[in-house]
Amino acid sequence: MDTAAAPTATDRSQTAPVAVVTGASRGLGLELARALARDGWQLVITARNTAELAAAEAELAAVTKVAAPAGSVVDDDHRERLAEAAAALGGASLLVNNASTLTGYDLDGAPLPALADFPLPGLLETFEVNVLGPIALTQLLLPQLRVRRGAVLNVSSDAAVEAYPGWGGYGASKAALDHASAVLAAEEPAIAVWAVDPGDMRTRMHQEAFPGEDISDRPLPATVVPALLGLLRDRPAAGRYRAADLAAVAPAAVDLPAAGTRPATAAPTAAGE
Ligand SMILES: NC(=O)c1ccc[n+]([C@@H]2O[C@H](COP(=O)([O-])OP(=O)(O)OC[C@H]3O[C@@H](n4cnc5c(N)ncnc54)[C@H](OP(=O)(O)O)[C@@H]3O)[C@@H](O)[C@H]2O)c1
Repeated sequence: MDTAAAPTATDRSQTAPVAVVTGASRGLGLELARALARDGWQLVITARNTAELAAAEAELAAVTKVAAPAGSVVDDDHRERLAEAAAALGGASLLVNNASTLTGYDLDGAPLPALADFPLPGLLETFEVNVLGPIALTQLLLPQLRVRRGAVLNVSSDAAVEAYPGWGGYGASKAALDHASAVLAAEEPAIAVWAVDPGDMRTRMHQEAFPGEDISDRPLPATVVPALLGLLRDRPAAGRYRAADLAAVAPAAVDLPAAGTRPATAAPTAAGE
């Protein structure tokens, strides 16, 4: 038997960094998960719809090691499962809070509600999915992230800073997520914390926001991924970024002294949480 054989895929995955990506069954989350898998990350992905999540898991598992528990980010037990799955893979170096809701209920072709008429249960769910869930999941993963000098990427929106009629619930929740991101960055110097507005993308969420409208002119979510990977590679200061601006500065950032020496976020340094 050849004892000097090259490391197997399993051996390599034991040292590969771990990313937790919520809402990774489709849209931006799935495209980012695909790119991270190609770059050698192990993944913990989640979403509520079991069939869509299983399809994403099957695809990603051909490339890297994946755990894919189905459930909602508002569910306490489910968030615990995600943190445990990340620890079982070696510990998270990256959390991407990407899962999100427009209104907290199925719009079913209806327009986004004005604040005057916003159903309060939907408003509560909007804040639970878009703000409370991400903060609570961050709390659980912080011990893993701190020891690896990891990163939290919170997916924001231009609706957090622009006052679009109908976008009051979603926009207010994303503004709250932005502010929580800024405070977390001030409190947690060992990790990087970014809020990123990806810009308009041709996804199910976007179609639901514009029922009956042709959204084929919006860019596909895959076009945003290089900017997010550039963020991980270049590790700029904590803050709020627009993906469009990151894409514009990413090529120049390659010349910075630290560039090229840090593969994505810092490599895992310890395990066991
Ligand atoms: N598309 C745009 O134009 C646009 C613009 C600005 C910002 N964004 C932001 O970009 C991010 C990705 O959106 P997208 O456009 O890619 O949306 P999408 O294609 O509709 O995907 C949303 C993902 O989140 C999951 N999800 C929703 N609620 C969840 C919950 N409670 N728990 C766990 N997973 C949940 C969905 O799966 P299940 O439904 O099966 O749970 C799905 O995987 C969001 O944060 C969104 O606010 C999008």
